[in-house]
Amino acid sequence: MVDHAQLNEPVVQADESARHSSRAFLIPETDDRSSGVRIGGVELTGRTVLAPLAGVTDRSFRTLCREQGASLAVTEMVSARGLVHGGERSSEYLDFRPDEAPISVQVFGSDPDVMAAGAAVVAEREPDLIDINCGCPVKKIVNRNAGAALMREPEKLGEIVSAMFEAVSTPITVKIRSGWDREENAPEVARVVEDAGAAAIAVHGRSRASRFKGRADWDVIRRVKEAVGVPVAGNGDVRSSDDAERMVEETGCDLVMVGRWAIGNPWLFGRIERRLSGMPEIDPPTIGERMEVAIDHLWRSVDLKGRAKGVYELRNHLAAYVKGIESAVPLRRSLLTEGEPEEVERILRHVARTEGDLVAEDPGERGGRT
Ligand SMILES: Cc1cc2nc3c(=O)[nH]c(=O)nc-3n(C[C@H](O)[C@H](O)[C@H](O)COP(=O)(O)O)c2cc1C
Repeated sequence: MVDHAQLNEPVVQADESARHSSRAFLIPETDDRSSGVRIGGVELTGRTVLAPLAGVTDRSFRTLCREQGASLAVTEMVSARGLVHGGERSSEYLDFRPDEAPISVQVFGSDPDVMAAGAAVVAEREPDLIDINCGCPVKKIVNRNAGAALMREPEKLGEIVSAMFEAVSTPITVKIRSGWDREENAPEVARVVEDAGAAAIAVHGRSRASRFKGRADWDVIRRVKEAVGVPVAGNGDVRSSDDAERMVEETGCDLVMVGRWAIGNPWLFGRIERRLSGMPEIDPPTIGERMEVAIDHLWRSVDLKGRAKGVYELRNHLAAYVKGIESAVPLRRSLLTEGEPEEVERILRHVARTEGDLVAEDPGERGGRT
């Protein structure tokens, strides 16, 4: 429970008006929101993509990031086999709404027939894109020859893409790593999947061997871009609009995919969109505005998952929203153990009242890539 004396304020009901009210702070203000990037028949309004992040990119976070400027969001990965066998848990991952369009659903698996059948189940829900996971490094997945293990078998991956391409009319995209180990084969894999019908390719510039360690190799993104004609999304270590601009300059990628650095920082998409469309920089959100977004995210999560799970599963996000904010330091423990959404909201409002007009250090600026 929260120490009310510490917060120095009476217990009040959560402010209903605050729910779902966060403004899109930094979306480019322009009538023409077409970026000219098309994936299959899907036209994107900008150049940023929210990466698939298992346990993170549920509907509450996806919708928030889209409102803050992301042009496309990808669901958490879902097992093709699970979908085919009607697993309840698997179909929960297909929980997206028409107003999320464009939306991409990521599937994982290793058998071309099962992947095709899984794609058919996904296609019934009419997402805009279906993505194949060729990047997951987790043992449980690669031991079944799925995820990053597919980087070792370009031919089989080609068969998977072909089978899915034949099975559904939804454009198929592929998310790859630089390779399985140090021997980089991403350009070769990219050519194979393009020939098999892939409509776009995202490249995370790390091998399976390096998992998430070290610095992402952006040069492999450039080599993939040179190898194929379909749009390429660059991915890995984009923490700021400076990073995004540099990635586009250095690699020629069409899209910038952002994962970890959007956690607690969804307005990063709008900042990047502004930068890439040549619009002037605007001030980063104040701590008050950050807290508004956090509260909005909290209630979206509760609406989606119920009170207990909605709060529990938001903890990583909450920790990121208050990172670097001085007045939140003594409240961090309460914030991350509290189970009642109204109490979580109260803590966030307290932080907003204490330091609301200040600007917290942008997470990206703390360790921006140079
Ligand atoms: C917690 C977590 C979950 C992830 N889940 C997925 C996933 O389901 N599918 C996928 O293709 N990549 C997944 N990734 C990889 C990210 O999409 C991305 O490629 C990686 O984090 C590098 O980008 P970043 O530096 O912008 O975070 C995950 C990464 C993290 C940290």
